[in-house]
Amino acid sequence: MKKIAIIGTGYVGLTTGAYLAHLGHQVCCGDISAEKIQLLNQGKLPIFEPGLEKIVKEELSTKRLSFVVGATNAIKEAEFIFLCLPTPTKEDGSVDMSFIEAVCKEIGPALESEAVVINKSTVPIGSTKKIEEIINRSDISVVSNPEFLREGSAIYDSLNPDRIVIGSQDPEVAMRVASLYKSIHTALVITSPASAELIKYASNAFLATKISFVNSIANLCESAGADIKEVTLGMGYDRRIGFEFLKPGPGWGGSCFPKDTKALISIADKLDYDFELLKQAVKTNDLQYEKIVQKILNNSNVSTKDSPPKIAVWGLTFKAQTDDLRDSPSLNIINMLISKGAEVHSFDPQISFIPASHLLPVSLIVSDDPYEICKEASVLAILTEWDEFRRYDFEKVRDFLESPQIIDARNLLDPIVLRKIGFKYEGVGLL
Ligand code: UGA
Repeated sequence: MKKIAIIGTGYVGLTTGAYLAHLGHQVCCGDISAEKIQLLNQGKLPIFEPGLEKIVKEELSTKRLSFVVGATNAIKEAEFIFLCLPTPTKEDGSVDMSFIEAVCKEIGPALESEAVVINKSTVPIGSTKKIEEIINRSDISVVSNPEFLREGSAIYDSLNPDRIVIGSQDPEVAMRVASLYKSIHTALVITSPASAELIKYASNAFLATKISFVNSIANLCESAGADIKEVTLGMGYDRRIGFEFLKPGPGWGGSCFPKDTKALISIADKLDYDFELLKQAVKTNDLQYEKIVQKILNNSNVSTKDSPPKIAVWGLTFKAQTDDLRDSPSLNIINMLISKGAEVHSFDPQISFIPASHLLPVSLIVSDDPYEICKEASVLAILTEWDEFRRYDFEKVRDFLESPQIIDARNLLDPIVLRKIGFKYEGVGLL
């Protein structure tokens, strides 16, 4: 049993704390928000992440997991300190390191001797060194250990990772960190800190580029009379390509891909490398949002000049199985529709978690009834791939809509069934 401190209780910090406690370690999580800590100590989660609440409750009762206010309180007696702090994008596209820097300044003098500080936040290359300089203690080691979990499947991803990457100058320290994960059987990649930091950006940028690529192929399918589901089926069986991240959609979003692609472009620029390919992947993604907006407007009787077209939207979160709205493709598309004069009425299965979010456009109408919002709308757009949408009553939807039209930006529904009951159905790259 190792004593571990986690600084930051967002999606990454909370999941890491919970599963390390689940693996048998003694974990204390610290966060600056007293409100959050109070909630967590009652076993309640400030976020929605499937399966996480159960583990938090279990580990609170085993007393292997605890929550305290403040970083310094969390690190008492800790041998390992995980930094799981936000690294947002600055105006110029570079990474804001101020949260990490402030915490390191705070905890530096209070760290137990021989402690290892492990950075899980996505940070520019060279940050491990910078953290070492801020802490400025020869008895303390700093290691990069990037996180690859996805929101919505965070617990599964953490317990079944494809690899664990540990970036350290000192092999002995790397093995001490690796020992924390000894009950997880997977590939262990030990690298320099700079390589570990770049592995994280390169992985996210590659996956984002893969989706931009497949979205382009989907658009090509529409003009070529091909079907993207068939095309990706034929591509995915090639093990060098694989089926993962080959689903076309409204464009990628979320709290990581947009931020990390921008950051890597900015990192490359500073190193005098013009990362043209990645810039194009981002541009392709922006065009994908526009493409979906155009599909929706083409089907929304915009010619009715007297009143704005009313559009119904199902799905606000950036993907299914999360309550996260940050950089959601759905919200980007809704904002574009509103700016073009549309009246948008929306529903999301997670609406009880996100009713008053500052990220929602002011003029967006949000309802907890998926059918009510279809009343007199000229088109229904599916923008997030919530599985339950498949089981909704589409005859009721058809009768409520002014004209029975669906734009399915996630290729979630069955076009044959919908067309049979009278819908005009359009997906992405489908026949
Ligand atoms: C992403 C990475 O997948 C994780 O490995 C990484 O740890 C995380 O960022 C991070 O840096 O913290 P996440 O943002 O939670 O995880 O979500 P993803 O499942 O990767 O989805 C990102 C976006 O791509 C979503 O908008 C999703 O709808 C879209 N997507 C994904 C597609 O359009 N098509 C696909 O086939 C897959």
